[in-house]
Amino acid sequence: MDMRAMEDDFKVCLCRNKTKKEVIDFILENEIKTLDELREQGNVGNKCGACSEDLEQLLQMAYE
Ligand code: FES
Repeated sequence: MDMRAMEDDFKVCLCRNKTKKEVIDFILENEIKTLDELREQGNVGNKCGACSEDLEQLLQMAYE
């Protein structure tokens, strides 16, 4: 899925009920650099794991 094409309120992690904007804001506010940090500190992407690739994209996009 191309995260750039998704709206801010797209539910990127269904298990943890987190939107694209919520995740990007969390990444920037907490200077998150890796998927592991995001999973542990953000409580996102740490259940079924289906959103891992999408979260990786958001990690890249956040710092562009
Ligand atoms: S959809 Fe994100 S952990 Fe399941």
